[in-house]
Amino acid sequence: MTPSFSRRTLARLLGASAAAAAVPSFAASAAALPPLPTGPRSFPPNFLWGSATASYQVEGAVHEDGRGPTIWDTFSHTPGKVANGDTGDIADDFYHRYPQDIAMMKEMGLKGFRFSISWSRVFPSPTMSATGAPNPKGLDFYNRLVDTLLAHGITPYCTLFHWDLPQSLENEGGWQRRETAQSFAEYAGYVAKHLSDRCRNFMTLNEMRSFVELGYGNGIHAPGLQVGRKALAQVSHHACLAHGLGVQAIRANSPATTQVGIADNATACTPIFDAPEHVAAARRAMRQENAMFLAPILDGHYDPLYLKRMGPDAPVFTPADMAAIGSPLDFVGLNIYPASYVRAANNELGYEMVSEPFTAPRMASPWLYVGPEALYWTPRLVNELWHPKSLYITENGASSDDKFTPDGQIMDTDRTMFLRNYLTQLHRAIAEGVPVKGYFCWSLLDNYEWADGYGKRFGIVYVDFKTQKRTPKLSAQFYKATIAKNAIA
Ligand code: FCB
Repeated sequence: MTPSFSRRTLARLLGASAAAAAVPSFAASAAALPPLPTGPRSFPPNFLWGSATASYQVEGAVHEDGRGPTIWDTFSHTPGKVANGDTGDIADDFYHRYPQDIAMMKEMGLKGFRFSISWSRVFPSPTMSATGAPNPKGLDFYNRLVDTLLAHGITPYCTLFHWDLPQSLENEGGWQRRETAQSFAEYAGYVAKHLSDRCRNFMTLNEMRSFVELGYGNGIHAPGLQVGRKALAQVSHHACLAHGLGVQAIRANSPATTQVGIADNATACTPIFDAPEHVAAARRAMRQENAMFLAPILDGHYDPLYLKRMGPDAPVFTPADMAAIGSPLDFVGLNIYPASYVRAANNELGYEMVSEPFTAPRMASPWLYVGPEALYWTPRLVNELWHPKSLYITENGASSDDKFTPDGQIMDTDRTMFLRNYLTQLHRAIAEGVPVKGYFCWSLLDNYEWADGYGKRFGIVYVDFKTQKRTPKLSAQFYKATIAKNAIA
């Protein structure tokens, strides 16, 4: 190890005087060392480089072409709920500007684009007993979007639910009612029937844990409720059920070659370092920490230890529910941001989560700790535990406090550093044989970051929300170069 340390690092590790002595002796012996491997860090041919986005975060046009209101319209217009009172009314105006934005994706070399469908554009006001009449104009937007992507050689990846629940369903209890899962399946089947001739990849739900825990647990996201532990476990179960019924509905309404998966933010259990006991602990944690969502979906049952831990608050379910929830998938999509560190422990769980120290590095969002090795360990452990047919990184990216240089550029070396380091770890997983087929950067454009409004920028393209002007950042150049080389630039 010592030879690769800089003089400054050695000074930190050894104390200044020891470093001064150590460096010359390294210089003297360097010629004898074998050359370091300088491989090209290439990704597999056909690796799918993409970017991801979500309807409410980019589309705007909330009153156009018959779209019904969603819980995010209600929430964002409720004073005090979102930073700066920001709403998604206009967002990136993607509803109108998608042709130019797709041209920009093409110019960047993107091979895939992950977008979500706004349920209430397609079914403006479903109720617990009836989905109601579809709105053809709403679906037409997605027809145009898919056609334009294909015309530019970009493969569409469609998410059916990225948090913008129709308000009409929430008025009757939303995800607290199991009928919402049924309603979701009807909507999902309808969309699959109309898009699957051109769109071959579908994800049911985005980040169940986020919309369940933030929406119904602590209420910092729409619909802003705090339902209590037992009711929350039931909301989780309804989300899993919606996923399972959704998978079945998509399959029933699309060609057999359609690829169906999910975009889940599984807790990214990462051993504190690579020692057998901590790796084993992280593997146990991966199942247990994800026992409400990804684990039952991939196992087809709830883990007995999870049910025991929940006691009387455990969700109520039937064997038929679990059979649907465990419906086989073509791929598992993972949204990965911070690493959750795990160490071995002598307790019932066999592991312990390690919280971040005060000085742990973070990006502009307080929750976004930098832990690149999450992009190695999460796919690896998910693969070891469940052997999915394939995996995608359906989201990964970073918020930065972007500012223009005097000559009009955004030199986001921090976001670029973040992406480069995470991709290096992803490369490591793929090199070891983990079947990750693609990576979707979050996000192409700065957009409406939920309760943070427009204050947190995740784009590799800067958006001036007053003029809608797009300016690619340094990170966009980096991503373009990486795609062109099919290797980390
Ligand atoms: C994920 C969400 C996505 C975006 C990123 C930053 O949790 O799925 O919509 O907000 O975080």
